[in-house]
Amino acid sequence: MTSQASAEAPLLPISAQLQKAASGQSLGRSGCHSWKRAALICLFSFGLIAVAAYGLKTALQSRASQSILQNRASSSLSEYSLNFLVVGDWGRHGLYNQSLVATQMGKVGDELGIQFVISVGDNFYDRGLTGVNDSAFSESFSDIYTASSLQTTWYAVLGNHDYMGDALAQLSDEIAQHDWRWFCRRQFQLSFPLCNGVNSRHNAEACSDSVDMFFFDTTPFIDAYWENSTTKHYDWRGLAPRAEQLQSQLQDLDAKLQASTATWKFVLGHHTIRSIGSHGDMSELKSEVDMYVNGHDHILQHIKRTDSAIHFVTSGGGSKSYAGLRSYDDDDGVQFVHEGQGFLAVCMTATSALLTFYDVYGVALYSYTKDL
Ligand SMILES: *[C@@H]1O[C@H](CO)[C@@H](O)[C@H](O)[C@H]1NC(C)=O
Ligand SMILES: *[C@@H]1O[C@H](CO)[C@@H](O)[C@H](O)[C@H]1NC(C)=O
Ligand SMILES: *[C@@H]1O[C@H](CO)[C@@H](O)[C@H](O)[C@H]1NC(C)=O
Repeated sequence: MTSQASAEAPLLPISAQLQKAASGQSLGRSGCHSWKRAALICLFSFGLIAVAAYGLKTALQSRASQSILQNRASSSLSEYSLNFLVVGDWGRHGLYNQSLVATQMGKVGDELGIQFVISVGDNFYDRGLTGVNDSAFSESFSDIYTASSLQTTWYAVLGNHDYMGDALAQLSDEIAQHDWRWFCRRQFQLSFPLCNGVNSRHNAEACSDSVDMFFFDTTPFIDAYWENSTTKHYDWRGLAPRAEQLQSQLQDLDAKLQASTATWKFVLGHHTIRSIGSHGDMSELKSEVDMYVNGHDHILQHIKRTDSAIHFVTSGGGSKSYAGLRSYDDDDGVQFVHEGQGFLAVCMTATSALLTFYDVYGVALYSYTKDL
């Protein structure tokens, strides 16, 4: 696979990590689907469907939805160029099904040959980490996501719960010494080349497309967190005075979006912009981007409204779930929602992005292809 990540913004010694992610995990894998693999999978899913016809309703549902993904992949006959998983709201010492989700992420990550994992925040419950040596880091991260496919870089942002502990610890290089996979920053940008066609990875011209991912720190934007409270404390160390902080973050994002010439632009952050989950909507993203991906609501959700070109994708099912949904109507643009644990897989070519949500059993519940 051709994945070269270039991280802008706070450049600390991470090149070793990035190289490891770019070479170790991505070479020698067949990507989302090579020809042979696609044929095998087709055969396999055909067999499964045959069995399911006699089987339980649930079995039928799960296998049918898996075959949606597999048929799409085989019909295109082209390799996906970039594959990754997105999970949010997870660190609970393996409890609340965190371990089960982790196991399924490992399996799907292996099938897809993922290049990296993205965490959209609320990495450690209930109150972030106490410091760089907090054992919660290993008990909720290193000891949980043990599958070989997950031994790749985890690009993480902070969520509100992370800000309730020592936020600087998660951002530090020191913590990455406990587990090299960890890369967490407030705001950063990654760029990946995208190729089209089988064998295209050796052909530079076939890889002239790219995706830019803009990671954004949403927590300082929530008014309620700045109100004085005796029960909740947020670690705002390292930030400018609030008004200045928010303005500079927005200007920075805007400038980077303007400057980007990438084929695809994704913005990723912790809080929802559009959601029917218990936390609800936040203010609208002004810029033209393809997708905004977040956590915060502990659900899996795809929203695409007719009044905006942006796809809003929530992947907040890393552990505890079932907080309830708001009622909604057609105007809300809800394409899919699942109240329960799970995660998102993204498979990209130069001209398409395949989104698939998996549940706690590893069943592909929903998949959607956005073509350019
Ligand atoms: C774990 O997942 C199963 C299946 O969705 C669900 O029934 C169960 O309530 C979950 N457990 C917790 C603690 O969320
Ligand atoms: C964390 O542990 C390391 C190794 O034991 C130690 O050198 C370092 O001072 C500790 N850091 C803190 C902040 O306690
Ligand atoms: C919170 O308390 C501090 C110090 O007591 C005060 O300066 C600040 O204005 C208060 N903020 C709000 C939003 O009430």
